[in-house]
Amino acid sequence: MDRLTPVADLATPVPDLVVSGRRLVTPQGVRGGHLLISGGRITAITDTDTAPASAGRLDAGDHYVLPGLVDSHVHFRTPGLTHKEDWEHGSRAAVRGGVTTVMDMPNTVPPTLAPETLLAKARQVAGRSLVDMRFHIGLDPARPELLADLDASVATSAKVFMAGHHTAPTVVRDPAALEKAFAAAAEGGVQLVLHAEDDGLFALLDAWWGEPGSYLEYERRRPRTGGIVAVAKVVELVRRYGTRAHILHLSSAEEADLVCAAQAAGYPVTFEVTGHHLSFTDDDTRRLGARTRLSPSIRGRADQDRLWRALVDGQLTTLGSDHAPHTVAEKTGTVAGSPPGLPGVQELAVAVWTGMRRRRPDE
Ligand code: DOR
Ligand code: ZN
Repeated sequence: MDRLTPVADLATPVPDLVVSGRRLVTPQGVRGGHLLISGGRITAITDTDTAPASAGRLDAGDHYVLPGLVDSHVHFRTPGLTHKEDWEHGSRAAVRGGVTTVMDMPNTVPPTLAPETLLAKARQVAGRSLVDMRFHIGLDPARPELLADLDASVATSAKVFMAGHHTAPTVVRDPAALEKAFAAAAEGGVQLVLHAEDDGLFALLDAWWGEPGSYLEYERRRPRTGGIVAVAKVVELVRRYGTRAHILHLSSAEEADLVCAAQAAGYPVTFEVTGHHLSFTDDDTRRLGARTRLSPSIRGRADQDRLWRALVDGQLTTLGSDHAPHTVAEKTGTVAGSPPGLPGVQELAVAVWTGMRRRRPDE
């Protein structure tokens, strides 16, 4: 007997498109059947023997059919940095990678640290994007109170750079400003999304070591300690203010353990892992130097194993690409001058899938 699973009211009796396949990925698992689509929305999933009548049809065969992915961490470069990439090309890469919604970061030029600049960016890219979009506003360390009455139609999350690097527009170095941000975000119901590395610690190491002579020397100035110290600070502030906090691009085993422990104790703190931290280790860094420079840095095999466990066990909340293109000339300049960041919105799903098949070939 035919089974019909209505997802929404059928807009028309004959769908615009039917996608048939043996591997439809649904919240209940992978199944065969037909996806009925009307007006750009999935209206039903059926498992009739023959495909229902429709205006268009697509046979996916044995390919997996997934819902459009959400990448909640991209650095598209419009406006101001379009020599690296523009919104059109970023969004095209997203579609190619199965991503249909992106959440863009505030470190464009000008940075989007206030509702007006964020809305101006949204207007600038409207009609030019192949994907849906939302924006994280940036914390302005001089005006943390903006978060207390942030209009949810503008943004519901705010990016905090606790450490500086080439494209960071503002860094919260003052502990009192960081506290104010946590308090204001809690008041406004805003989630903080944090680049949690300790800038003071990196500055100390830079001053002590002096100019790096090689890329591996540079990496010694950006150790795991920076992340661990900052994540511990975030957990403490979440405990004090009850602010919802999401740690971005978490890179070490210790940080993962800390956040999991805080979560188990009931703190509203979650974390993201990136495709590049799941794909590269310091062996690749030795081989590729600043080409795979990232902030936070790529770490060792044991850390990578821990991040995979976070994915497989469902401890992480988001997988993000941290899509951050630069030109080849920028990436291959001087050791200290090479900016961190790699593209990834197009590669995220494939990289994670490939890594998973390598690690769990029998599943
Ligand atoms: O590696 C990175 N690159 N990390 C960031 O947090 C920012 C990004 C960029 O904008 O280039
Ligand atoms: Zn980022």
